[in-house]
Amino acid sequence: MIKTVITGIKPTGHPHIGNYFGAIKPAIEMSKKSDYACFYFIADYHSLTTTQGAKELTDLSYEVACTWLACGLDPSKVLLYKQSDIPEIFELSWILSNLAPKGLLNRAHAYKAMVEKNREDKVDDDFNVNMGLFCYPILMAADILIMNAEYVPVGLDQKQHVEIARDICNYFNKKYGETFVMPTAIIDRNVSTVLGTDGRKMSKSYNNEIPLFCDRTVLEKKIRGLKTDSSLPNEPKDTNSTIFEFYKLFATRQQVEIMQKKFEEGISWADAKSELFRVMDAYISPMREKYNYYMSHKDEVDSIISEGSKKARELAKLTITKVRNAIGVV
Ligand code: TRP
Repeated sequence: MIKTVITGIKPTGHPHIGNYFGAIKPAIEMSKKSDYACFYFIADYHSLTTTQGAKELTDLSYEVACTWLACGLDPSKVLLYKQSDIPEIFELSWILSNLAPKGLLNRAHAYKAMVEKNREDKVDDDFNVNMGLFCYPILMAADILIMNAEYVPVGLDQKQHVEIARDICNYFNKKYGETFVMPTAIIDRNVSTVLGTDGRKMSKSYNNEIPLFCDRTVLEKKIRGLKTDSSLPNEPKDTNSTIFEFYKLFATRQQVEIMQKKFEEGISWADAKSELFRVMDAYISPMREKYNYYMSHKDEVDSIISEGSKKARELAKLTITKVRNAIGVV
């Protein structure tokens, strides 16, 4: 039996190396297996909780689409689409909001974190909280349930959202009869959590990311700027360093073994950084070329997305008809 897999990426920042190893690469590998039907989409309406301004949203949406394509997504195998192209998702989101207890959403981590911060700051609980943020998990449930997805590969931070989608799925099926397929989060613990330039998890919110497709010179500068300890050339180097961690992501096993020896023998940090840049650039270059190609051929990207959206919407329409029948809107 072919299983349906869905995942969305929010266009809120430039795709970085953490996104690549944590989400994009594993999702693309999954799409190459014949037992999965994959739905990968740009969650543009989800990004409204954080993105400011029209141009930013448009540009970042293209960046996400071009990143998927540059990293090897094959549009003949994967439906690549835009959430905003499928109005049925938003219709479903409203319907589901009537089944989602407020108490359930009170516990959703992004909202809860805001409330906790407001309490710390001694301001009103609801300060800076809009309904988009509060209802975010309902929209995500609609994304998933409308496509009858069975598997949802996500990072650990999204596990709670998939659990909320499961709860809502249950409430609906209990009240109106079996309508939706129960989704399951797939959290691959082998997927590397990529560390950022400061040694914490790479994340836009920590401002410690290395963009996946920046200019070579920018990449080199970022690598040169990585913090190291003060060990001198010829002194053994710590393989727990960010430099070695990055090297492991991009190099072959053989290259890593050689580098490990060089670390033991006391390669200078400057030389280690040069080697790191070399392997990183060699790995990224072919993808960067494709990325730049798509970024300057947006009409091609538009037609891939509109093809994907058209097919995804057909499925969404089937589900919404079922849902309307189930709730008595005929
Ligand atoms: N909330 C997810 C994130 O921030 C993005 C997302 C939106 C998503 N809808 C989804 C992921 C549906 C998986 C399935 O990363």
